[in-house]
Amino acid sequence: MSELEQLRDTAPARIAAADSADALEALRVEYLGKQGSVSALLKTLGKMTPEQRQEEGPKIQSLRATVVDAIAERKAALDDAALEQQLASETLDLSLPALQRPRGSVHPVSQVMDELAEIFADMGFAVATGPEIEDDWHNFTALNMPESHPARAMHDTFYFPDESADGAQDGKRMLLRTHTSPVQVRTMMAEGAPIRIIAPGRVYRSDSDATHTPMFHQVEGLVIDKNIHLGHLKWTLETFLKAFFERDDIVLRLRPSYFPFTEPSVEVDVGFAIENGPDGKDRRVLGGSGDAPGHAWMELLGSGMVNRRVLEMSGLDPDEYQGFAFGVGVDRLAMLKYGMDDLRAFFDGDHRWLDHYGFASFDQPTLSAGVGATA
Ligand code: PHE
Repeated sequence: MSELEQLRDTAPARIAAADSADALEALRVEYLGKQGSVSALLKTLGKMTPEQRQEEGPKIQSLRATVVDAIAERKAALDDAALEQQLASETLDLSLPALQRPRGSVHPVSQVMDELAEIFADMGFAVATGPEIEDDWHNFTALNMPESHPARAMHDTFYFPDESADGAQDGKRMLLRTHTSPVQVRTMMAEGAPIRIIAPGRVYRSDSDATHTPMFHQVEGLVIDKNIHLGHLKWTLETFLKAFFERDDIVLRLRPSYFPFTEPSVEVDVGFAIENGPDGKDRRVLGGSGDAPGHAWMELLGSGMVNRRVLEMSGLDPDEYQGFAFGVGVDRLAMLKYGMDDLRAFFDGDHRWLDHYGFASFDQPTLSAGVGATA
């Protein structure tokens, strides 16, 4: 048998049997490389007579083509198999349950603010905002606390350095707002009457212990319309607190008080009892009259009818419009509802605390499903 015939008989089978890219490459070199057997046959063409060349040439070229095709075919098959194997080993089963609960949760302050927005939206209130860096006029003067008013001293205000010579006099001195009440003024000036808003946000006072932090959160409420009276205030607060604490037995006590920007001013107390919480610690649970056995009253929030002078300074006619306002600590509401006892932990950013007290991010409070999220 000639070498050509032998190669023609054996090469395709050997190539088809190559079981790896390396084995296939070795065969390619063996047949088609510079020293390869098929290449050697091609070189013999040069020494042949024209007649011989005419006869042998096509046979050798055909052998070469057979070998090239066989190698290409085997290479494609090996590549396919490698891809199949890679895909099989990299499979990701998207239907498997997650191994870990995702990190990150909704902070109780955010949760409570969402709950407030939901409850008040149902009563027709919009959410308003104002700047945390406020001027003296909106924070104090327009709220009936002129220069040297003694109530200013109670606010432990963080002032910015006074840059202008007469800054303090014209009310332009900047400060970190000490309460959300300046949003009352801003809303009345921007929108006129009637108004139904809540204004949640950060406020700042130079104060720090277990129940006071230099930054905390309040929500302001403001209703302005014709013929608004204290009864509307009481109903609104009762309805809000029953929805928020998810109890029908919330009992309020209204006490005369004093705020420069409301007249009359009303401090609102709520009845509570001490009960043993799920963590074994005693905690205050709202509900029932503070005068009932085992119960007491707790001061919850400040409110009142908006002072005529505030309405005037905000551009409204106090003979035409009246209204009520209230302000309450959001952090305090969160502590009462969800049972934390140290306010400072709210702002430590400790993920263990957040894991315990935080809320699932998909758990949006709705009135129909209950605003009290499952922690
Ligand atoms: N702004 C008052 C405070 O921070 C609370 C308040 C708001 C009182 C509205 C009456 C009316 O203490």
